[in-house]
Amino acid sequence: MPPSKPTIGILTGGGDCPGLNAVIRAAVKSALRLGYDCVGFLKGYEGLVDPVAYMPLDLTNTANILLQGGTILGSTNKGRFSALVGESTRVRIDPQLLAAAGETVRQLGISGLICIGGDGSLAIAQQLHEHGIPVVGVPKTIDNDLGCTAFTFGFDSAVACATDALDRLHTTAASHERIMVLEVMGRHAGWIALHAGIAGGGDVILIPEIPWTFENVCQKVLDREREGKRFTLIVVAEGARLPDGGLVHDGGGKGALGAGVVERRQVKLGGVGEIVANEVAGRLKREVRALVLGHLQRGGTPTAFDRVLATQFGAHAVRLVHEGRFGQMVCYRPPDIASVAISQAITTPATVDPAHSAVQAARALGISFGDGVDASPFGP
Ligand code: F6P
Repeated sequence: MPPSKPTIGILTGGGDCPGLNAVIRAAVKSALRLGYDCVGFLKGYEGLVDPVAYMPLDLTNTANILLQGGTILGSTNKGRFSALVGESTRVRIDPQLLAAAGETVRQLGISGLICIGGDGSLAIAQQLHEHGIPVVGVPKTIDNDLGCTAFTFGFDSAVACATDALDRLHTTAASHERIMVLEVMGRHAGWIALHAGIAGGGDVILIPEIPWTFENVCQKVLDREREGKRFTLIVVAEGARLPDGGLVHDGGGKGALGAGVVERRQVKLGGVGEIVANEVAGRLKREVRALVLGHLQRGGTPTAFDRVLATQFGAHAVRLVHEGRFGQMVCYRPPDIASVAISQAITTPATVDPAHSAVQAARALGISFGDGVDASPFGP
C-alpha cells in the first residue's frame, strides 16, 4: 500500500566513507520540511530487491549522525547489482533485477531515489535511471576520482587521516634517521597521496599518473643526506605502478600484474609500499620501514569540510528530486553546488593531471615524484 505522502528513498552504495551519514541527515531534514516522507534502503541497492529491506527515516533516527563515520543504512560494493565502469567489460545489470527494483519503487510510491555512491554505484544509478526509475546521484569517495565535481565528500577526511599518519611517522623517521614509506589508498588516482604528501611534508610522492623509477627515488634520499637530512618520508599511492608497469595487488603476495593485464576494479590493490621499502633498503643499505594505512582512511568522523560538503550535497539532492531533475548528480563547482548528468560524471574519471598546480607547487619545493624531473622552482 503506497504511503499517502510523497516519499523520497535514500541508499548508500559502495565502500563506506566519512560523510555518508551527514548526507542522509541533510537529505532527510530538508525533505521533511518540504512535506516528504523518507525511507532508507538497507545495504545499498540490495535493499531494493528480494528481500526488500528499508527503514523509515525521520528526525529521531537521523539525529546525532552528522559526525558519525560509516552509514546507518549499511552498504556493499559487491552483490547482485555490481557494475563496472570505464572498462571494455562493462557489465549490464540483469533486467529482472532492474524490473524488481522498479516495482519496489512503484509500490512504495517513491517520488525520487537518492543514490549516494562512487563511480560503480552511480553507474548502477544510471542504469536505474535508463530503466525509468527517478534517480538522483550524490558523489561519494575518499579517492576523489569522480569527474565533474571539484571534490567528492570523504576525500578531505581521508587526507586528514593520511596527513596525521605522516606527522606521526615523521617523528620516528627523524629520531631514528630512517626512511619511512606510507602507502595510502586512492585506487587508480593519486589524489590522496598528492594532498597528504604535501600536507604531511613528504619528500617523495609516487602516484599512478606520473611514471617513476627506483633510481630517482634513491637519488632523492641521497640528495637529502647531502643536505644533512638523514631521513626521508615517501608517500606511495596504492595504484602507483612499478617502474616495469606492474600494478601491485593483494598485498603483493600474488605478484605484480603487468600494465593493461588486469581487470582493474576486481583486484584488491595493495603492497606497493612494501616493495618500494625493500627495494630502497636493498639499494641504499639504509633502514626502511613501510606502513599500509588501509581502511583507517575510510573510518572515523568526517572533517568540517566534508560535513559542510555532504550537507550541501544532501540538501541539493532533495532539491533535484523536488524539481523533477532526475538522472542528475549533484556536484561541487566552487563556489557553487550544481548538478550534471550522472552519465557524464561516470564517464569522466578524475585523475591527477601531472601539470596540476599542486604538483607544480610540490616540485617547486623540491618534492620528488620519482620521475627525475628537475625540481627547480617554477620550471616548465
Ligand atoms: O574506493 C575506495 C577504496 O577505499 C579504495 O581507495 C580502495 O582501493 C578500495 O576502496 C578498497 O576496497 P575494499 O574495502 O573493498 O577492500
